[in-house]
Amino acid sequence: MKSAVIGHSCNVNDKVKSRRSAETVNELDLKEHWDKVYSNNPENKLGWYETDLSPMLKLIMKAAINKSARILIVGAGSTTLVDELLDEGYSNIIASDISEVALKKLAGRTVSNKVEFIADDLTKPTRLGNIGPVDLWIDRAVLHFFTKESGQNTYFDLLKSKIRSKAYVILAEFDLNGAKLCSGLPVQGYSEEMLTEKLGTAFELIDSFDHTYIMPSGAERPYIYTLFRKKHHGGK
Ligand SMILES: C[S@@+](CC[C@H](N)C(=O)[O-])C[C@H]1O[C@@H](n2cnc3c(N)ncnc32)[C@H](O)[C@@H]1O
Repeated sequence: MKSAVIGHSCNVNDKVKSRRSAETVNELDLKEHWDKVYSNNPENKLGWYETDLSPMLKLIMKAAINKSARILIVGAGSTTLVDELLDEGYSNIIASDISEVALKKLAGRTVSNKVEFIADDLTKPTRLGNIGPVDLWIDRAVLHFFTKESGQNTYFDLLKSKIRSKAYVILAEFDLNGAKLCSGLPVQGYSEEMLTEKLGTAFELIDSFDHTYIMPSGAERPYIYTLFRKKHHGGK
């Protein structure tokens, strides 16, 4: 089984980990890896923790879905976006992640019957395969962890099978100049063109912009934010 080298990363243990030379995360241990990240670190110290959600909210507002539309947040972790969406009145939210620890933290904080929590692996989905059609798919800082083509293909196959006609997809990932490792794992940066290519001709690009996220440590992480819409009659 291929392994990922641990090095510079996005979480508070970066410095400790970067001193180690040959430590690896086996693909089979990814759930354990992420559970440990969420167990061992306060949420507001994680290298992706946000208080300013304005770039994401700008794209959600642009999609202009109604408040009862089904929103799937993949790789949600313990994101503050869920709190924000509940405050805005959205009532049909699914938060999914490989880490049950993250989802428990999120569920403990948000306490709402408007949010469903689904623990699943996006590169080997089981439970997510059973959900109904989605009106808005939101991914911030998740897809970029799937460095193998097989994992990316599984991710996009799932996405394409769940997005209804005229529904929206937001992908916010490290850009091509971004970090090469995050949370000890290698990442694949993206451009607007690469994401457009991955989604295929059934999707049209609605908006796209660069955003520099400032980590709790003060370091900068450049992201590409994109909003796509599935065409009514699209290609493949
Ligand atoms: C950098 S964090 C971003 C969390 C959240 N999207 C946010 O913006 O706060 C990446 C998230 O992806 C999740 N993740 C990583 N690999 C995954 C996989 N194969 N399937 C589902 N979730 C995964 C991790 O557990 C983690 O919560």
